[in-house]
Amino acid sequence: MRRTSFVIFSLLIMPFFLARPSVAQNVNRAADLPDDGVALTPPMGWYPWNEFGQEPQNQKLIEEIAAALVTSGMKEAGYQYVGPDEGICFSRDSSGKLTSNLERYPSGLRGLGDLIHKQGLKYALYTDAGTHTCSKAMPGTKDHEFDDMQAFANWRADYIKVDWCNTEGQDVAQSYTKLRDALRAAGRPIVFSLCSWGEGEPWKWAASVGNLWRTTGDICGPGKADWANAMKITAANEKLYTAARPGHWNDPDMMISGMNGLSETQNRSFFSLWCMMAAPLMAGNDLRRMTPSTVRILTNPEAIGINQDPLGIQGRIVRREGEIEIWAGKPLFDGSQAVLVFNPGAAPAELRLAWTDLGLEESASLYVHDLWTHQTTGPRQRGISLSLAPTDAALLRLSRSSAFPLPPILVADSYLLSFRAAGPASQKLTGVLTVKTNGSDVLPPWKVQPGLPAWLSVAVRRNGKSQTFTNTVSTAGLAKGSYHALVRADNLEPRSGKPTSSLYYDVDLEVSR
Ligand code: GLA
Repeated sequence: MRRTSFVIFSLLIMPFFLARPSVAQNVNRAADLPDDGVALTPPMGWYPWNEFGQEPQNQKLIEEIAAALVTSGMKEAGYQYVGPDEGICFSRDSSGKLTSNLERYPSGLRGLGDLIHKQGLKYALYTDAGTHTCSKAMPGTKDHEFDDMQAFANWRADYIKVDWCNTEGQDVAQSYTKLRDALRAAGRPIVFSLCSWGEGEPWKWAASVGNLWRTTGDICGPGKADWANAMKITAANEKLYTAARPGHWNDPDMMISGMNGLSETQNRSFFSLWCMMAAPLMAGNDLRRMTPSTVRILTNPEAIGINQDPLGIQGRIVRREGEIEIWAGKPLFDGSQAVLVFNPGAAPAELRLAWTDLGLEESASLYVHDLWTHQTTGPRQRGISLSLAPTDAALLRLSRSSAFPLPPILVADSYLLSFRAAGPASQKLTGVLTVKTNGSDVLPPWKVQPGLPAWLSVAVRRNGKSQTFTNTVSTAGLAKGSYHALVRADNLEPRSGKPTSSLYYDVDLEVSR
C-alpha cells in the first residue's frame, strides 16, 4: 500500500499561478470537424474485446454488461457507451445491405440499441474500413461506406469504432475521410472512433475526421492484461499530448483495470494514467464479476473528474527522476491542476515534488488533494515529498483553494421515449426524461435546439442538479404511421463556460388510426 507523506518546504505564501511549461508542438492542426457536440470530454463506456475477444459476444452478454453498468454504479459515475466489438453482429445480404445476425442478437441490432437506450446508456457498434473485419467474420465498409453508415444510423448507434484490417492498398486518411462523409450523410450524430493502431499518424489529421483515434496496437490479447505492453502504449501515447482537445482524443486503447494479470496497485495506477492522459475510459473487464476494489477504482469520481475536465487537456511527463515520472501540464476547469507521480520501477522510491517542476512559483501556497485517499493537506509551499511502492502512482490536484469541485458528469434515466396513439381521435401524450449532473455545480437549464417536428414539443424544468425534459406529442393531423425525432439539447459548464457534450435522445411515435 502506498505511503504518501507531505512535507512543508517553506511558509511563504504567494499567489498561485498556473503555467504550462513551453514545449515544442508536435502536431499540425487541421480544421476540426464541424460541431455536433459529441465527445466533448473523453467517451466513457465498455467494449468487449479485451476480456472476451469474439466469444461469447452476443445479445445476452451485452444485456448483462449493460445491467452491470447500472447496478455497479458505473453508469452513475459517467460510463455510457456499450455494445458489441467484432461480435459477428451482421452480414451483407445479396442486395449489398447489412442485416443483423439474429442468432446472436435476437432483437436485431436496432432492438439491441433500443434496450440500451431505455436504460439511459448509449449504443456502440463496430465495423472495419477494409473489405472485412479482422477475423473476416463480418463484412467491412470498403465500397459500401454510405449504405453501411446509414445502416448504423438506422440501428441508432451513438458510437462507431472502425477497424483497419484487410485494407490492402487503401490510404488511411482517405478511407476514414470517406467514412466521415458517409457518417455525416447518414444524419445522426455518432462518435467516430478511428482504429488504425497509429497507422497513418491520425493524431496529425484526424481531428477533421473523427472524435478519437487509436495511437497504438492492441493493449492485450483477449482475457489477460499485459502490464508491460500497457506501459509501452502509455509511453507512445504520452508523446502525442498536443493533439488532444474537446471532441478529439488520442486513444491508447480500452482499459485493462480489473482484468486478470494486474495487481490492485497496477489497476489503480493504470486508471490514474488513463485519467491523466484524457484517454477514453472504455472499460475492458468483465463488469459482471468485479471485486469491490475494481469497482472503487473504476468509479472514483475524483479521478474521473480530471479525465472529464471540460478543458480537455492531456497531461504529459514534465520531469523524470530515476524511474519516477512526474506528469503535469493538465490545468483544470476551476484553476486547479492535476498531477500524477508514477513509479513504474520494481523498487520503492522517494521523490521530492517541487512546485517549480510543475511550472509554478516556488512560493505558491497550495492545497494538495489526493484523489485516491481523498485527503486534502495544506496549504503547502515549495513542494511535497512522496514515497511510492513499485508500480504505484499518486494522483493529485493542486489548488489555491481547498474546494476541489467536480466537473459535470451527466446521467440520464433514458435516451428513448416511445409513444403509441391508437384510435381515430387526436391525442396529446406526454413522456418525461430526467437528466442529472453528478458534478459539483448546478447546470444552467438545457437548451433544446430548434427544428423539432410539428408533432413534438419539449419543455425543460430544473430542480437542483436534475432537469426534466417533458415531451408533449400531439397527433392532430398525423396520418397512420411511424414518426421519429432526435432531440438535441446543449449546456455550458458554469465555471469555465465551456460547452458540455450535447444531449441527444430519440422520440418514437406510432400512430394507428
Ligand atoms: C483490432 C482492434 C481491437 C479489436 C479487434 C477485433 O485488433 O484493434 O480493438 O477491435 O481488432 O478483431
